[in-house]
Amino acid sequence: MLDRYIKLLKNGEVVAFPTETVYGLGADAWNPDAVKKVFEIKGRPADNPLIVHISNLHMVQDFAKEIPEDAKKLMKAFWPGALTLIFKKKSNVPDIITGGLSTVALRWPSHPISQQLISLAGPLVAPSANTSGKPSPTRPEHVFEDFGDDFPVIKGGKTQIGLESTVLDVSESPFTIYRPGAIGKDEIESVIDIEVLESIRSENQTTKSPGTKYTHYAPNASVRWLQENEKLDLQNVFYLIHSSNFESKGENIINYSGNYETMAKELYVRFRQADHENFDEIVIEPFSEQLLSKQPIVKALLNRIQKAIH
Ligand code: TXA
Ligand code: MG
Repeated sequence: MLDRYIKLLKNGEVVAFPTETVYGLGADAWNPDAVKKVFEIKGRPADNPLIVHISNLHMVQDFAKEIPEDAKKLMKAFWPGALTLIFKKKSNVPDIITGGLSTVALRWPSHPISQQLISLAGPLVAPSANTSGKPSPTRPEHVFEDFGDDFPVIKGGKTQIGLESTVLDVSESPFTIYRPGAIGKDEIESVIDIEVLESIRSENQTTKSPGTKYTHYAPNASVRWLQENEKLDLQNVFYLIHSSNFESKGENIINYSGNYETMAKELYVRFRQADHENFDEIVIEPFSEQLLSKQPIVKALLNRIQKAIH
C-alpha cells in the first residue's frame, strides 16, 4: 500500500501522511532539494525550522550531536509519541532543515503508518500539512483542501490527538517547552526530577523557536473569547463551549461538556467548518486557571486559540 509513496519520497517528492497529532508534509530529510519543496509548497518562511521524524533510536544519533541523560529518560518514557525534542545538531544535518540554527528537532511518531513509512523511506522532515497560516490538518480532506485533489496523501482517517506535539528544548539546561501539547510540564518533570521552563511566546517577541512567533492555525472567521454574561447569537456566530453553563440549542453551538480531549481533536475541524459555513466569528468560552493547571491538553488548546485570535 505504501510502495507508491515510498518511491515518490525516494525520488525527492513530497507526500502527506498521518501522525497521531496532525497530518505531516513529508520529505526525505537527507535531500535538501526535497526539503526545499516542503517550504515552497507550504509557503513557509525559511527561518522556521522543520521537525525530523524518525522511527527508531538509532536514527537520533544521525542527527543529534549530544544526547543528555535526562533526554534519554524522556525518549524512553514518551517515544514513540507526541513529544518533539530539540538537540544540538550534527554538522552534516542540512541547514535548510534547521533554518541555520545549531539545533535540530526530532520526533518519533507513534502512528503505525508513519512508523512504517519512515522505516522504509528513511527519516522525513514533516511540518503540519497545511498552507502556512491555515489550521493544521487532522483529516485527509484538509490536505486536499489546501493542496488540491491530486496531492499525494496517505489516508489514515482522523488523527487521534488533533493538536501538534509538545516541543521541548533539551539542548541546554534547564530544558524549555516552546510549544505546549498533549504531553505536559508535570508529566515531563515527573520523569526527570528537575524543573522544566515554559517559554511560550507570542508574535514579535524574539524567540529561540522561530515558528512560535508566526500567527498560525487561523481560520478566515475572526476568533475571540466569550465575554462574561454575553448573550449567545444563534445566527451569525459559531460557538465552542466546554462547560455545562450553556444549553446547546443551535447547530452553531458546539458544547464539549468538559471533554477537552475531544475538543482538542476537533478544534481545527471546527475552525474549518465555521469557514465552510461562512460564519464571520468564532467565539470560544475561556478556560479557568484551575482547568489550565489540571490538564495539559487545555494549555495546548489555549495556546492554539490565542494564536488564532488576531
Ligand atoms: O505534531 C507535530 O509536531 C506535527 C506532526 C506532523 O509531527 N508537526 C508540526 O510541525 O507541527 P511544524 O513544522 O508545523 O511545527 C514545528 C515547530 C515549529 O514551531 C518550529 O519553529 C519548531 O517546531 N522547531 C523546529 N525545529 C526547531 C529548532 N531546531 N529549534 C527550535 N524550534 C524548532
Ligand atoms: Mg504547523
